Amino acid sequence: MNYPDVMEKLVSLCKRRGYIFQSSEIYGGTGSVWDYGPLGVELKKNIKDRWWHAMVRSRDDVEGLDAAILMNPRVWEASGHVAGFVDPLVDCRACKGRFRADKLEDARCLRKPSKHPGEFADCQLTEPRQFNLMFKTFMGAVEETAATVYLRPETAQGIFVNFLNVQQSMRKKVPFGIAQIGKAFRNEITPGNFIFRTREFEQMEMQFFVDPDKSSEWFDYWKGERMAWHRSLGLTEARLEFHQHTPAELAHYAKAAFDVQFDFGGTLGFQEIEGVHNRGDFDLKQHTEFSGKKLEYFDQAANRRYIPWVVETSVGADRVTLAVLVNAYREESVPGEDEGRVVLGIDPALAPIKAAVFPLTKKDGQPDMAHAIADGLRPQFPVDYDESGSIGKRYRRQDEVGTPFCITVDSESAADNSVTVRDRDTLAQDRVSTGEIARYLGDRLAR
Ligand code: GAP
Repeated sequence: MNYPDVMEKLVSLCKRRGYIFQSSEIYGGTGSVWDYGPLGVELKKNIKDRWWHAMVRSRDDVEGLDAAILMNPRVWEASGHVAGFVDPLVDCRACKGRFRADKLEDARCLRKPSKHPGEFADCQLTEPRQFNLMFKTFMGAVEETAATVYLRPETAQGIFVNFLNVQQSMRKKVPFGIAQIGKAFRNEITPGNFIFRTREFEQMEMQFFVDPDKSSEWFDYWKGERMAWHRSLGLTEARLEFHQHTPAELAHYAKAAFDVQFDFGGTLGFQEIEGVHNRGDFDLKQHTEFSGKKLEYFDQAANRRYIPWVVETSVGADRVTLAVLVNAYREESVPGEDEGRVVLGIDPALAPIKAAVFPLTKKDGQPDMAHAIADGLRPQFPVDYDESGSIGKRYRRQDEVGTPFCITVDSESAADNSVTVRDRDTLAQDRVSTGEIARYLGDRLAR
């Protein structure tokens, strides 16, 4: 199926409706860095909470962690990022642009009419140079090499260096996992596609420490679990698939890897949203060598000491947020109406606002009753109150941000103590008594 390219419309909707803004927009923006607005922060938080619940709270074999972004710089020597987290770059002497040497086919020279870098007759590309994607900064008052630290390019290393802390403090037996959600930073050369590839982003990573002989079993298990999680967000089944890494694609630490890919539509098509990796004993061995601290496990029952292998699941919170938005965006006609509507058909449980409460008119005490209903629901559900514009306009605004239910107080409400509740997707309207609204929403959101 060819899904349409909705990215441009989505970027505009996200700005207009308070989902996502360009970072430092009043200064002209910052390259490929984005801010989440009032609705975006709720959606992303709901996705992160879902992940935390599935990966940590609902399991007794995974523990949570929140490691610092700034780490001892030796961590990044041990992990291979100082030497190996590089892209080959070339400079174009004609347009002064800088491009990835291995992606020239996808790049356009900045000179008009644009061609691929190196295709102008008078243009020479420089020899490729290796460019490290880690952001550097300085710790302490003196900007000298000794004080260089890096913004972490992945959260995983915070987990590896805490392997013994967690295992010993929580008395965990292998197999067990450590999970965390946190910011990561990469000085990407070709960022883009909105929040798909950015320079500051959030990862949700879990390292599962296993007996080396059982790593293939656990790898298959986690592949299945993670795909099921993506489906549980409401992502369309046909838009999800696995991609197995070829030997050339494998990262320096990986023995085997599968990406969960989502079809973003248009020219972007299927792209990675999560990686499931068998990292072997690469990381614990490297940190043992560089720190001098043995990162081993003693299996008392088998009287055996070994370095556990690691099955990693690594998913971008921003990329999944984008997948949820792309998956949810639809334009449709409304029966009996000339004007169509834009709907974000987000899974109700993930939607930033669960219900909007409207007085049909500003007369007859309807606003007071609607305010009272909204205030009564607010401790349990994120709700919005809106009395501006026609009721049709108010419905459209809520459809566009994905609010699953609209509650309207009308001229009958005061007399019969009931309201209409409109369903975003079916447009069906139920008459519900005011005392039952919270239960009604609770039931519908739990489905
Ligand atoms: N620890 C393993 C690791 O970091 P990765 O494949 O480089 O693996 C994992 O990244 C996930 O992080 C990706 O599937 C993607 O969802 C997200 N991610 C990586 N780079 C990103 C970027 N520049 N912008 C947004 N998300 C990114």
